[in-house]
Amino acid sequence: MTHSLVDRPRAKAAPVAIWPLRPSDLEAGLAALGPGQAAWARTNRFAARQGETLLVPDGQGALACVLLGLGNGDAGAPDRLVAGKLPGLLPEGIYRFAGPVPEPRLTALAWALGAYRFDRYHKSAGADCRLVTPDGADGPEVRLIADGVALARDLINTPSNDMGPDELEAAAARLARGHKAKIVVIKGNDLLKRNFPMIHAVGRASPRAPRLIDMAWGRTGDPKVTLVGKGVCFDTGGLNIKPGNSMALMKKDMGGAANVLGLASMIMAARLKVRLRVLIPAVENSISGNAFRPGDVLASRKGITVEIGNTDAEGRLVLGDALALADEESPELLIDMATLTGAARVALGPDLPPFYTDDEPLAAAIAAKAQAVADPVWRMPLWSPYDTMLESRIADVNHISDGAFAGSITAALFLRRFVDKARAWAHFDIFAWTPKARPGRPFGGEAQAIRALHALIAERYPR
Ligand code: BES
Ligand code: MN
Ligand code: ZN
Repeated sequence: MTHSLVDRPRAKAAPVAIWPLRPSDLEAGLAALGPGQAAWARTNRFAARQGETLLVPDGQGALACVLLGLGNGDAGAPDRLVAGKLPGLLPEGIYRFAGPVPEPRLTALAWALGAYRFDRYHKSAGADCRLVTPDGADGPEVRLIADGVALARDLINTPSNDMGPDELEAAAARLARGHKAKIVVIKGNDLLKRNFPMIHAVGRASPRAPRLIDMAWGRTGDPKVTLVGKGVCFDTGGLNIKPGNSMALMKKDMGGAANVLGLASMIMAARLKVRLRVLIPAVENSISGNAFRPGDVLASRKGITVEIGNTDAEGRLVLGDALALADEESPELLIDMATLTGAARVALGPDLPPFYTDDEPLAAAIAAKAQAVADPVWRMPLWSPYDTMLESRIADVNHISDGAFAGSITAALFLRRFVDKARAWAHFDIFAWTPKARPGRPFGGEAQAIRALHALIAERYPR
């Protein structure tokens, strides 16, 4: 993978200057450019509004410099990733920031995130734009974060015909190989022998066999951090089949798995002091004569019997068994990520994933890191009184509520039943998709919350 960030410009041509400007210092900024270029900016009515850009030519019509508007930080919502606009817009070349940028790490990262292209199936039209790492940003750190995000995006963007359980396993194995991590896969009928009945039940109707991917990295004595990601490689809804428009995007239902792999990539590349474990139940929620049915009662690894209310609520089932396994070794920190409910989107929209935890310090730390690295999340409650919505007449629990209320909360409450020994647990109900492109956030598969989680884990368990 080529990188959009360079630490030093290569000798030949001097990098093109990018001037970050605010309306308040626009005149001073233009004065520094010289009369011809300042006149060009005025002719074009460049006002340094947030996200406004202007390419400024020299006397020969070549690119002399670039102006980037930052807006007035106080007005409305500052977009801290605004520099992510540039790589998609500028001609091929090497660039540098000519003035101090407000948040150099985030600016460099925004550039790298904005340079992302999904070009597996056709060559991208994007030009090759490189940025000289701005002062105050750490090149290797920005790159390892951008790589983790790109991995998550690539896995999500790849359509299900090329990203089934086999291919998801191969992607995990590739990542493991790169960092000398160990990987074990329990597949098909072995899931029954090894007591993962819910993962098997959800995935058994697909010819692409269900499996549990179990990756481990780091020193055994180091603090145990375990990541669990929903790996539903396609979600038809099962026998409770989804209508066409709801199914259209369901290649992204392995977004939780993609995100935990992206986060694992960051943790391993940064060589943080953890014993990392990544668990991915990888299945396809498909339809055939042997599909699980509404009304079935499933056994689970934890021993809880689970009545199936709707085969489209499959994610919480595969996660239940994976969380139960994760919980058995009492990890210090247990995090799961899943494209779990449509209700989470109804509540908070596509860009703001809810997270759930009963651990107050962890909740505060997650919120603080999310703010610090501009990777927003919003805490929602594990509201215990709603546990009664999961009552079943014939089993220990129903996996869905029979009403239409609090869908994301009741899903989180169902998951909580499979966790009790972990020292801290947090669940993220993510969308894993950007439906409308913004700077640094191109349309399509998206990493959510993993930059915040990386920052948190890096602070708690530094190398
Ligand atoms: N993968 C979906 C949830 C989803 C849908 C996430 C659209 C993001 C976008 C999940 O498996 C599902 O189908 N959930 C159902 C649960 C319901 C049957 C209780 C839902 O949210 O409608
Ligand atoms: Mn579903
Ligand atoms: Zn699903």
